[in-house]
Amino acid sequence: MLEIKDLHAGYEQLEVLKGVSIEIAPSEIVAIIGPNGAGKTTVIKSIFNIADVTAGKIIFKEKDITGLKTHELNEIGISYVNQGRINFGNLTVRENLEIGCNLIKDKEVIEKNIEMVFEKFPVLKERQHKLSYGLSGGQQQMLALGRALMQNPSVLLLDEPSLGLSPKLQKELFEIIHKLRSDGIALIIVEQNAKKAIEIADKTYLLEDGKIVLSGDKKILKDKKIKDVYLGGRY
Ligand SMILES: Nc1ncnc2c1ncn2[C@@H]1O[C@H](COP(=O)(O)OP(=O)(O)O)[C@@H](O)[C@H]1O
Ligand SMILES: [Mg+2]
Repeated sequence: MLEIKDLHAGYEQLEVLKGVSIEIAPSEIVAIIGPNGAGKTTVIKSIFNIADVTAGKIIFKEKDITGLKTHELNEIGISYVNQGRINFGNLTVRENLEIGCNLIKDKEVIEKNIEMVFEKFPVLKERQHKLSYGLSGGQQQMLALGRALMQNPSVLLLDEPSLGLSPKLQKELFEIIHKLRSDGIALIIVEQNAKKAIEIADKTYLLEDGKIVLSGDKKILKDKKIKDVYLGGRY
């Protein structure tokens, strides 16, 4: 459904991605893992036209979508939750969700989507009239996810969703991700938690220095390199 083809991208003179190809099918979870600075976030930024794409293509449902603007991507069903789960702290939980829906003008649809998010994240319903800055880290992540879901995406890109969450909240988050997939959403997850990412993903890509050096399904947990470097002491 979404295909990144031989992507070269970076920032002005700096080439970060040196020929990256990634494919995701409907209702699939794809994980991108790799060390800090490898270019994982740049893959997402390239899709969203925040990084400079110098070669290669991004194809969605057989159309070339390279260079589309954020709102155009949202309109065709691609949404993005950045690293750091950024919400509008001085708006209430409900207002944050309404903002996530700015492409949809029909009030009934907005209400329906808010109810859908509240069903997934009951704690957001309880706190809907509270300012979002008072939420815990886990709740902030749910709100950021909820905001992206307000756009009814068919592909959701999550950058380091588990970063800074307690092990218990990480577990809950991965359960939520699993559920979203059952609802028919395809997910691309950039993760520093390599083990969890590989376990949840249908396909994992290991990115090092701007290149995919390994890819595969859960079997790559047994790969020597993955074991030594990503599941060892450092990760
Ligand atoms: N806006 C930017 N301008 C210049 N260089 C950047 C910018 N963002 C990231 N980089 C550089 O691009 C490289 C890859 O970064 P990034 O994609 O964020 O890596 P990762 O997400 O894998 O940690 C790093 O060397 C980083 O310093
Ligand atoms: Mg990153």
